[in-house]
Amino acid sequence: MSIPKDARHLFRFAILFVIAFVVFLVIRHFVVPKTFGEYGHYRGAAITEIAARPMHFAGHQKCETCHVDIGEAKKAGKHENVSCEACHGPLAQHADDPSIQPTKINTTEVCIRCHADSAAKPGVFPQIDPVQHSGGVPCETCHQPHNGL
Ligand code: HEC
Ligand code: HEC
Ligand code: HEC
Ligand code: HEC
Repeated sequence: MSIPKDARHLFRFAILFVIAFVVFLVIRHFVVPKTFGEYGHYRGAAITEIAARPMHFAGHQKCETCHVDIGEAKKAGKHENVSCEACHGPLAQHADDPSIQPTKINTTEVCIRCHADSAAKPGVFPQIDPVQHSGGVPCETCHQPHNGL
């Protein structure tokens, strides 16, 4: 192996490489958020920011502490595993302060979110063609949303 007689161009290249690396480190220092990598490959402060957001959903356990009867009725029906807020929408504010009244559900909209027929749904899931089935008549005219169905 022979060493080149004039190796200056190699040193120049090495110095350029070092400068580029330092520039990279400086830019990285300013661009990457301070708490990045604190816990993992993400911004650590994001956790406290997300936790500080207001809650919108209370969870069905909370609803059932006050609306015991409806919780019981629902357990006996087909909607056993459908959470209250899947139909009623987010009601954390109401759960904290019941004087904030929930708005009435428009069943012709809410129920068909799940039950409108679609070839993409498993055949065993109960589906209807809303127009043929009820033609705009509110679903709760004939169905008991909580238990009887
Ligand atoms: C701290 C007790 C409490 C909690 C928790 C609570 N509610 Fe209520 N809710 C009430 C009271 C009191 C009323 C008003 C009286 C009534 O109509 O039963 C009410 C009314 C309602 C109504 C309207 C009733 C009507 O007549 O139109 C709905 C719907 C409802 N709650 C759903 C929910 C859901 C869903 C949850 C869970 C996210 C929930 N509630 C959590 C106490 C509570
Ligand atoms: C499958 C959809 C669905 C689910 C799940 C559901 N509800 Fe309802 N709920 C309705 C509809 C529809 C009405 C009648 C229209 C209205 O009041 O908005 C109603 C009415 C109510 C009412 C007022 C009238 C009444 O029957 O006393 C309360 C209170 C209520 N729901 C609480 C709950 C609670 C608590 C849960 C969970 C344990 C729950 N609901 C789960 C659809 C649902
Ligand atoms: C979040 C999705 C969801 C919403 C919203 C919903 N349902 Fe359901 N529904 C279900 C599930 C899940 C079942 C149980 C399916 C099963 O047994 O495999 C069911 C079962 C039923 C059944 C029984 C069908 C049968 O013969 O087995 C009827 C009727 C029904 N729902 C009517 C309604 C009505 C009326 C509303 C509106 C008040 C409603 N559903 C809203 C998910 C939903
Ligand atoms: C005029 C009364 C009436 C209205 C309104 C009505 N239904 Fe029904 N629904 C029935 C009857 C009766 C059955 C049982 C016989 C059948 O399977 O057609 C049924 C059955 C169902 C089933 C079970 C279908 C299956 O394949 O097992 C679902 C899901 C359903 N309805 C959802 C709804 C939804 C969602 C609405 C509102 C958009 C609604 N229904 C409005 C009378 C009604």
